[in-house]
Amino acid sequence: MKFAIIGSRGQLGQDLIRTSPSKVELTTFTHADFDITDREDVFDFLAGEEKFDIVINTAAFHKTDLCEDEPQKAFVVNAVGVKNLVEACEKAGSVLVHISTDYVFDGGKLSKKEPYYEDDIPNPINIYGISKLAGENVVKNYLEKYYIVRSSSLYGVAGASGKGGNFPYTILRKAKAGEKLKVVDDIYMVPTHTYDLAQGIWRLVLEEHPYGIYHITHTGYCSWYEFAKKILELANIEAFIEPVSHKEFRTKARRPLWSVLGTKKGIDLGPWVEGLKKFIECINVEDL
Ligand SMILES: NC(=O)c1ccc[n+]([C@@H]2O[C@H](COP(=O)([O-])OP(=O)(O)OC[C@H]3O[C@@H](n4cnc5c(N)ncnc54)[C@H](OP(=O)(O)O)[C@@H]3O)[C@@H](O)[C@H]2O)c1
Repeated sequence: MKFAIIGSRGQLGQDLIRTSPSKVELTTFTHADFDITDREDVFDFLAGEEKFDIVINTAAFHKTDLCEDEPQKAFVVNAVGVKNLVEACEKAGSVLVHISTDYVFDGGKLSKKEPYYEDDIPNPINIYGISKLAGENVVKNYLEKYYIVRSSSLYGVAGASGKGGNFPYTILRKAKAGEKLKVVDDIYMVPTHTYDLAQGIWRLVLEEHPYGIYHITHTGYCSWYEFAKKILELANIEAFIEPVSHKEFRTKARRPLWSVLGTKKGIDLGPWVEGLKKFIECINVEDL
């Protein structure tokens, strides 16, 4: 089976490569190879002479605050770019696996502390989420053979280039530099290790689950403060860390206070702490 991975230098892209089963024939595309917003390039690479059974798109404009300042770019990458991929996949007969986000939800389930499932109705409250939902709608309304995989709060060994790393790296670097940490304790999510997510995506596709929307994250949930505490504990680093309310941090984009995903479709990645343990074992904290 021939697979293409788009965004292959990213943290999820790297872990999709690292975890790819031997029976899979893999072609990887970085941002330098082509930009998903360039329709002609997308068709050349995905629907030209070489065609793929499955295309996995991890590329996105996902700097949440910057999306508020650059809504046009957010829609061009996260929706128009996705339309290009959809049309190329349609032409080539490929299945599209498109990665989306917990930020398509508004956080209203905080009062019940109940996860968002695949059949919950999205209502994004920032431009990033709105543009990602637009991308999802393009996929599901223009293509028959698709998987939309929503996940949350990703971290992987490669780090997200667009965000200059990821949350665990930031916490570890600041703690090692002796900075006092203030971390939000009233926003909840499921931290998800891209290594495990990548394995979940391979399962989804290779076990031929029915097409549609899937939530794939670890299980359980925590606040960003609880996540930071666990990162420091597992890395054995002492730091001064203070829980604060999101009201203390003014950010351009509003964020859902609760974006915990759950699944009714059977693929979960096990407890979030286990994913974090694996991550800490894989990195060299000394070198950060
Ligand atoms: N990070 C999170 O916390 C999070 C949470 C939930 C869902 N997601 C979703 O998960 C997916 C993967 O996230 P990630 O954390 O692995 O991101 P990442 O590390 O930033 O990787 C994304 C990759 O896509 C490339 N890319 C960006 N724009 C592109 C374009 N227009 N054309 C072609 N390639 C482009 C980037 O290259 P350059 O860096 O060179 O631009 C980067 O290598 C995204 O769809 C994101 O929306 C992320």
